[in-house]
Amino acid sequence: MEKSRVLVVGGTGYIGRRIVRASLAEGHPTLVLMRPEIGLDIDKLQMLLSFKAQGARLVEASLEDHAALVAAVAQADVVISASAMSGVHLHSHNLSLQHQLVEAIKEAGNVKRFIPSEFGMDPSKMGHALEPGRITFDEKMELRRAIEEANIPHTYVSANCFAGYFCPNLCQMGTLLPPKEKVLIYGDGNVKVIFCDEDDVATYTVKSVDDPRALNKTIYLRPPENILTQNDVISKWENLSGNVLEKIHIPIDEFLASMKDTNFANQVVVGHFYHIFYEGCLTNFEIGDDGAEATLLYPEVQYTRMGEYMKKYL
Ligand SMILES: NC(=O)c1ccc[n+]([C@@H]2O[C@H](COP(=O)([O-])OP(=O)(O)OC[C@H]3O[C@@H](n4cnc5c(N)ncnc54)[C@H](OP(=O)(O)O)[C@@H]3O)[C@@H](O)[C@H]2O)c1
Repeated sequence: MEKSRVLVVGGTGYIGRRIVRASLAEGHPTLVLMRPEIGLDIDKLQMLLSFKAQGARLVEASLEDHAALVAAVAQADVVISASAMSGVHLHSHNLSLQHQLVEAIKEAGNVKRFIPSEFGMDPSKMGHALEPGRITFDEKMELRRAIEEANIPHTYVSANCFAGYFCPNLCQMGTLLPPKEKVLIYGDGNVKVIFCDEDDVATYTVKSVDDPRALNKTIYLRPPENILTQNDVISKWENLSGNVLEKIHIPIDEFLASMKDTNFANQVVVGHFYHIFYEGCLTNFEIGDDGAEATLLYPEVQYTRMGEYMKKYL
């Protein structure tokens, strides 16, 4: 079967650059949106040029320029958006940008699959989420409604916890590095959480784009060996590093109270951590008929285990 032409929007971002690489690796003709707003960002430009050298085609268009965006979208069969839609500071601005992409896809009329920028918790399961962090899920749901009202064929990707943000830091907030002396544990630390290597997130995402089993469904990434509790992650790290950490358990009330009088960004993060590590929102539901699990769909992918992932941090 001929591989579809994939346009990546947000292709220089943290997950977007991996999606570009995965799309090329899977043999898709790959287009990457190059925004004129790049200005003097030499690193972004160098990255785009490296994609070009690897076989991608750069397509110039601004998300603010409807006609150019329609022309860009018209060249692709699949659009994957990896924009930082719910950037805590820019959320309203970024949200409108994703809606502009939906408008362009609607007008172009040729797109067979749209993957919006989700890649986290399933927002449809987060209707009860705490303020103010719920904004992330509300915005993603608003975009879903626009996609579905426009009858755009889509796949939603629920990628759970990106390993780099959650695993080597042993699930600590405010750092990406492993703690050296003590570790804060959410409650008893026994809630099941799901971690995913970011390159694997990109691979599973790209695998789904031509797959009829993923059409108008949510693909959940649940690599069985990466479904771990915080205690599991800590003990994996202690075994790797040989360093036994002091453990400090934080009761739920104390954790939630830590939100008070802090800035908006911190309140968002505390809310998300509460849902993941106390409530267990990543694993407390079964996947229904409107979803499918990625490692079952694509068993050929050799996903990275968290012990392996953390070795880089030794
Ligand atoms: N599951 C998790 O643990 C986790 C962690 C982090 C993020 N995520 C999710 O993953 C998705 C992507 O996040 P990310 O961290 O990869 O994003 P990112 O690196 O911060 O940004 C991605 C891209 O968004 C575009 N962008 C950002 N601000 C923009 C603006 N004001 N105007 C136009 N374009 C803008 C840029 O695209 P260009 O390349 O065109 O410049 C940028 O490269 C989001 O939906 C986020 O919620 C999930």
